[in-house]
Amino acid sequence: MKIGYIQTSPIFGEKEKNFKEIEKLTNDLKADLIVLPELFATGYTFISKKEVESLAEGTNEETAHFMIDLSKKTNSIIVGGFIEAENNEIFNSAMIVSNSKVLGTYRKIHLYYKEKLWFSPGNQPLRIFKVNGVNIGIIICFDWIFPEISRTLALLGADIIAHPANLVLPYCQNAMITRSIENRIFTVTSNRIGEEKRGVDDFKFTGKSQITSFKGEILSSAPKDKIFIDFVDIDISKTRDKKLNEFNDLFEDRRENYYYNIRN
Ligand code: ACM
Repeated sequence: MKIGYIQTSPIFGEKEKNFKEIEKLTNDLKADLIVLPELFATGYTFISKKEVESLAEGTNEETAHFMIDLSKKTNSIIVGGFIEAENNEIFNSAMIVSNSKVLGTYRKIHLYYKEKLWFSPGNQPLRIFKVNGVNIGIIICFDWIFPEISRTLALLGADIIAHPANLVLPYCQNAMITRSIENRIFTVTSNRIGEEKRGVDDFKFTGKSQITSFKGEILSSAPKDKIFIDFVDIDISKTRDKKLNEFNDLFEDRRENYYYNIRN
């Protein structure tokens, strides 16, 4: 299976230009899974709720159409971030698209910084998307710092976690090595680069998109400041065996009785 990412530098508010850039980068590409960054079509640094609303979409609008076209062109499953509007709520979401269809969305559960002003936190149970025999889980950016979400997706059967991101902290790439090892899954972090100075905020995004194996090997690492695309071939069957050795199985060895179930 050929999986990878497209690390871009979105221009704020310019969906068509951002689509065109990805089209150019994927001209001759054929793959199985392509992960795009968080909010890849809109940019990230909003200055008002009105602005966020004006860029929000449903799952049958321009970003969905772009992702379906990209999916057809590349024969791939596509996962990428967008602003999702549903009824009166707006979510920082990722859409998964395959075989000309939107399979669903994941709405970011752990909102970072001013995202809490713009978005509602995710309101759907975590789930796996089964496509062509592969189980795909999705997390978005800051979700990385909550190991519970990757663990839950792995326990639900995820082989791969697709991780659209707009990272501004320097820790995630290292953390994804641990997320991959502790769950014996592949992870694909698709980050963006560039700077967005809007209103009082000035974000510098950290690039270094990364593909990490079930054993914690870094299979691909992008530059911190360049548009970049990379793909690797992986054997998905490796994620189905959680044994570390003849005595240890990462899932069977869990001692749930000792893990406190603390709720707010
Ligand atoms: C982030 O969650 N986009 C930092």
